[in-house]
Amino acid sequence: MSTAPTTNAALFERAQRTIPGGVNSPVRAFRAVGGTPRFIARAQGAYMWDAEGQRYIDYIGSWGPMILGHGHPAVLDAVQRAATEGFSFGAPTEREVELAEAIVEAVPSIEQVRLVSSGTEAGMTAIRLARGATGRSKIIKFEGCYHGHADALLVKAGSGLATFGHPTSAGVPAEVVQHTLVLEYNNIEQIEATFAAHGDEIACVMIEPIAGNMNFVRAQVPFVKRIRELCDQHGALFVFDEVMTGFRVALGSAQSLYAQAIPGFQPDISVFGKVIGGGMPLAAFGASRKIMGLLAPLGPVYQAGTLSGNPIATACGLATLHEISQPGFFEDLSRKTRRLVDGLSAGAREAGVPFAADCQGGMFGFFFGPELPQNYSAVMATDKDRFNRVFHGLLDRGVYLAPALYEAGFVSAAHTDADIDATIAAAREALRAS
Ligand SMILES: Cc1ncc(COP(=O)(O)O)c(C=O)c1O
Repeated sequence: MSTAPTTNAALFERAQRTIPGGVNSPVRAFRAVGGTPRFIARAQGAYMWDAEGQRYIDYIGSWGPMILGHGHPAVLDAVQRAATEGFSFGAPTEREVELAEAIVEAVPSIEQVRLVSSGTEAGMTAIRLARGATGRSKIIKFEGCYHGHADALLVKAGSGLATFGHPTSAGVPAEVVQHTLVLEYNNIEQIEATFAAHGDEIACVMIEPIAGNMNFVRAQVPFVKRIRELCDQHGALFVFDEVMTGFRVALGSAQSLYAQAIPGFQPDISVFGKVIGGGMPLAAFGASRKIMGLLAPLGPVYQAGTLSGNPIATACGLATLHEISQPGFFEDLSRKTRRLVDGLSAGAREAGVPFAADCQGGMFGFFFGPELPQNYSAVMATDKDRFNRVFHGLLDRGVYLAPALYEAGFVSAAHTDADIDATIAAAREALRAS
């Protein structure tokens, strides 16, 4: 038995001896913002407490899943009951069917869904399915969108229009990404030119409809509409990665917002994670019965998972979806998120700091720049140093934002107006000092 160190710094030092960089997912290491990562001891509602007993108002929410806040009683009860029934069976359960039914009911583009354990797995398989369905190899993704760490998706843009991308990670051979085209987000001319050059080779276009991995950048409606048309014209599939936006920006996910703006709009394949697991390792991908019928055991596209549809994760996800389906849930969540974003904007105005912010449902983002960026290079041009100063200013005042400029923030149902007002007050000070 070791004697437990009680400071974040001591824990971080100890962690670095046995875990690379001291963390099990790189952005947790605070490399982008500097300083010592907080080691979280426990969380409840809208708050987390670190190893030193410091309380934070949590706007990360485990990077999206905790839409009800931490330790919601109904979710806790469902998980505890499921745990007593068994951790994992490797055989089908009724709860998996219930969760599949809940997803299909909320998202009209999906007739069938398969449950997996991480967003990476879901995104990777969505690509395989699109390639299997079309018999084509090439895929289009957009710079600044993250779809998990599968080899074919760890790519940055090439040097010019319609050039193939370069691996962004060591260990990914150039041959593996030779079929991945990386284009600029919200650039209609570029994707038109790419389809003109490669249209009959493209299996799918994959997009984050609101790019939470660029903080918060919306795919503009005409851009999404044009991609839909190009995919239809050329026989390619349109894949919506809703790992972050799914059941977070609206019950019907981001695609329901585009369907309001573009009559009849639906993606072909959708990818989910985060909220549908309520904080447990659970993700999913879904599509029409015809496309999903290509998956093993029915069809030739292989996919499997020892822990897929895990009984505790499905209990957690189902209880979460049940709560967020209650009438008025998203109205109230949206109102709170809007209150936060408006308060932050007012604080920035008072402090004379260039600031632009946006939100949808329980997801928000802000930038230190005069206007909302529309693509990755515009995000990169915002003031990173000021972000880092404000991040630490808020952390010192007990407000925990994601530790990088490129990440969205999340409000949960557990955040009260008082929490939000306390956050705005802290932000006023942090902004003035920035
Ligand atoms: C849009 C999006 N897709 C995919 C992923 C990968 O999900 P996971 O981290 O569960 O593998 C993420 C993770 O943040 C994401 O934000």
